[in-house]
Amino acid sequence: MKITIHSGNWEELDIDALAVPQAADATPDAALDARLGGLLGELRDNGEWTGKAGQCTLIHRVPESSVQRLFLLGVGAEPMPRHWFAAAGQAVRQAAKAKCRSVAILLPEGTDARLIAEGAIYGMHQPSGYKDQKPWPVEEVILLAGAEPAEADRGQLTAEGINLARELVEIPANDLGPEEFAMRAAQEGAAAGLEVEVFDETALAEMGAGALLAVGQGSVRPPRLVRLSYVPENPTSNDHLFLVGKGITFDTGGLSLKPPGGMEKMKYDMGGAGTMLGAITAIGRLKPGVRVSCLLAMAENMPSGTATRPGDIITALNGKTIEVINTDAEGRLVLADALTYATRLGATHIVNAATLTGAVSVALGSIRVALLGNDKDLGDAIALRGRQCGERFWPLPMDPEYLDAMRGDMSDLRNASPDRKAGTITAGKFLEQFVDGTPWAHLDIAGTCWVDKAQPNCGKGASGVAVRTLVRLAEGWGE
Ligand code: BES
Ligand code: MN
Ligand code: ZN
Repeated sequence: MKITIHSGNWEELDIDALAVPQAADATPDAALDARLGGLLGELRDNGEWTGKAGQCTLIHRVPESSVQRLFLLGVGAEPMPRHWFAAAGQAVRQAAKAKCRSVAILLPEGTDARLIAEGAIYGMHQPSGYKDQKPWPVEEVILLAGAEPAEADRGQLTAEGINLARELVEIPANDLGPEEFAMRAAQEGAAAGLEVEVFDETALAEMGAGALLAVGQGSVRPPRLVRLSYVPENPTSNDHLFLVGKGITFDTGGLSLKPPGGMEKMKYDMGGAGTMLGAITAIGRLKPGVRVSCLLAMAENMPSGTATRPGDIITALNGKTIEVINTDAEGRLVLADALTYATRLGATHIVNAATLTGAVSVALGSIRVALLGNDKDLGDAIALRGRQCGERFWPLPMDPEYLDAMRGDMSDLRNASPDRKAGTITAGKFLEQFVDGTPWAHLDIAGTCWVDKAQPNCGKGASGVAVRTLVRLAEGWGE
């Protein structure tokens, strides 16, 4: 499926469905309204159409055209990028629901065609493979806009990265352990033209990645570290950006076992690694001017006779010792070694993504990603790229005193604080100990990586959050 752009009239097209995203106070397209005998104006005047974001009014057939379904989609009174993105996905999902093969999206002048293309491909995502009922494929999406085809192509490549992240997050842990995930990452990386290196448990032991190994040692499925690198042909900067992801393919909590309620969702604890893999595969295809590498730290956190115990003191790759107070605070351990390794490979900037703390949902719910770090410019750049494509971040403070809770009695650090206070921040302060002063940002996506309640553009499942922001961060590097 390829998204195309048509700068002419929709009436020239042979399409099953037409979607019209519209702001609350916008005047309906005159030609379309005339064709419908003034119905659009009527719906607005009688209050049935309000244009509220997410609203969909269905009209059957547009006379004297091929259109069998017309979707009038609300984007709210003051549409923001996230509303356009969502409406594009909603158009595709509605088309699929109505068993339409093709849909055209009628766009007002000046809309961001790239973002619309991203939204449309986002709306194509279907949870795959495990259901008898096969999803309905929409085969053709046409953007009715005066835009460059290259814009749609960029959007499509980005969204394919987002959907890769979503697919991986949704695969159950019986089918996606560290080894399977690493193999898939290597495949996807090679297909995107990236350099790929996979470290198995032997290589990790040689390297001295004691924290990653400690998390993985309770499982019969050994840990992996995957490096993927994109090297630009004509670099526009000397920087080397690293994207680091938490890839816990299942988090039982280890010996500090989690309660059973909702534990099945811990298959999504590799969401940070999924995000970074989705971003770097898109980056490999979009070819920005900055060098970008990705490190994915993969392990399965299981309780067993070989598992790390609370009280064990482990040595991380950078030589720091960590007392494991709670084996359920495993994400920061696997990230610790990946962050150290990033600094060793010459990272000038690091961004990591992780489903790191339950506390982030208490603070920000499922609306905003928590943004922490040690560098205001990098944090600001991420927030700005997010605003441009409709993803929301919110900064949390990193005062030095928050580290006190993470200092060990018998060791340099401990992996959990004695109380639950500021759980997202103390986790961030822990991570900071492993970046060696490199400008760094940490995205806690534990609250935003999984969608619990179906949305107009997305069913229950993985959200693919942060991929499109990170892709834009790389594309706009140094601007
Ligand atoms: N993977 C979890 C965090 C999580 C919780 C993600 C809920 C998604 C939904 C992480 O490994 C974890 O268990 N964190 C603990 C840390 C605590 C033991 C210091 C937490 O947040 O409770
Ligand atoms: Mn955990
Ligand atoms: Zn976890």
